[in-house]
Amino acid sequence: MKILFASSEAHPLIKTGGLADVCGALPKALHDLKQDVRLVLPAYQDVLARAGQLSEVARLTLTGSVEPVRVLEGTLPGTTVPVYLIDAPQCFDRPGNPYSGPDGSDWPDNAQRFAVFCRAIVELAQDRAGLHWRPDRVHCNDWQTGLVPALLSLESPRPATIFTVHNLAYQGLFDWARFQALKLPYTWWSMHALEFHGSLSFIKGGLVFADALTTVSPTYAEEIRTPDFGCGLDGLLTQRAAQLAGILNGADYALWDPASDPLLDAHFSRRSLKGKDANKQALQRLFGLPTDARRPLFAHVGRLVEQKGIDLVLDILPELMQRPLQLVMLGSGHAVLETALRTAQARYPDRLGVRIGYDEGLAHRIEAGADLFLMPSRFEPCGLNQLYSLRYGTLPIVRHTGGLADTVVDATPASLDAGTATGFVFDAATPEALLACIDRALHLYIQRTAWTRAVKTAMAQDFSWTRSAQRYLDLYRATRPTT
Ligand code: ADP
Ligand code: GLC
Repeated sequence: MKILFASSEAHPLIKTGGLADVCGALPKALHDLKQDVRLVLPAYQDVLARAGQLSEVARLTLTGSVEPVRVLEGTLPGTTVPVYLIDAPQCFDRPGNPYSGPDGSDWPDNAQRFAVFCRAIVELAQDRAGLHWRPDRVHCNDWQTGLVPALLSLESPRPATIFTVHNLAYQGLFDWARFQALKLPYTWWSMHALEFHGSLSFIKGGLVFADALTTVSPTYAEEIRTPDFGCGLDGLLTQRAAQLAGILNGADYALWDPASDPLLDAHFSRRSLKGKDANKQALQRLFGLPTDARRPLFAHVGRLVEQKGIDLVLDILPELMQRPLQLVMLGSGHAVLETALRTAQARYPDRLGVRIGYDEGLAHRIEAGADLFLMPSRFEPCGLNQLYSLRYGTLPIVRHTGGLADTVVDATPASLDAGTATGFVFDAATPEALLACIDRALHLYIQRTAWTRAVKTAMAQDFSWTRSAQRYLDLYRATRPTT
């Protein structure tokens, strides 16, 4: 099958979160399943710097771009997966985050930037770029690629379109003036197309027009059809329920395996856990915490946004800091949360370590060195950090939602007896419920035999991409191009 895989980020070229992990790993897994899959990304400055050898393969004239747009071809580093980079300097030749400027607010021209990206993808999909390659499936990811299924619906013949929701909370909403400026068909300003409560919604382009819809866990696929999680789109998603599947993300164990991870201080595995202690000690040192092997070390890595439930952690911090534990946190995001964490760190310097920023290497070292990983998310489409935590023997403490509910087995007397426990799960998004769950974890931590058994069970879980990639392949097969 020929698959054009479109995304606004992919590891290791550009990453702000799990979307990049998935869009770096899934094409690779599909390629390993012998599919002709090619990735298409915007040519941001960081991407151009990391992409290695590139050659110009096409020049496109696109609605919405005053300059011709170049298509550059290379390969995804570390793989033989071909990558097309959409080089529209006016849109993408700027430093830093793909979506926001240095002050943290969205780039004001995001609608135009990603509309140009989408129009370029359509030209590739329709083989109008002179590449002599006509994909039969186009797989789009999140709002930045949402206009692709809409624009392709105007074409015939055309490839089948698959749209994956990684996070329904990010919808790509813009005003009427932007809609006009993008020169999209006026009939699309309708609640049955791209209009959403008086705004242009990029994500609706995917949700309304794609032939098949997926999201990144079975539980989130159910949740987004309810008002609590549907972000106003639950009605539409219920209408399209027959075309909506939940396919769990995988973890890329080529990058995330404590037995071979080059970013770690020491390697370890289920059979030999010794190296984990060395990582813990190194982590305690790095954060200026007492190097005590017996003190449970909790951790969090993530975007500091409401979704992740960091406010719950902040709420219980005074009580938490009275317990015999340490906590390290790495993240960046909302200024209010960043400041609150810095202030807390100054207050508890010998128990709490905080790093504000984005640091891939440190994220790996935290997964390896910690004993427990906090993920009290209010919602979590899939979540990758809990998958990495499981593999690194760092028992996750998660809220029962989305992919967290699908991947972590709560340590109850029954699951501990059966040897299936892999972490700790709580229900209500309240400080009390989180604290009670943490206390359960602390209680198990001191029962060393039971603890080690759970750690080994966690490390034995297999969330590799092979199975999920096969599910995408089955879905591609079931979704036919228009002839
Ligand atoms: P989301 O996609 O909602 O951010 P996921 O758990 O799916 O959440 O994926 C987050 C990914 O981003 C993980 O690979 C995680 O290690 C990484 N990450 C998030 N914040 C940081 C950070 N501050 N430094 C390094 N890596 C980070
Ligand atoms: C989103 C979600 C996260 C998911 C990731 C990759 O960013 O917040 O839960 O794991 O996408 O699908």
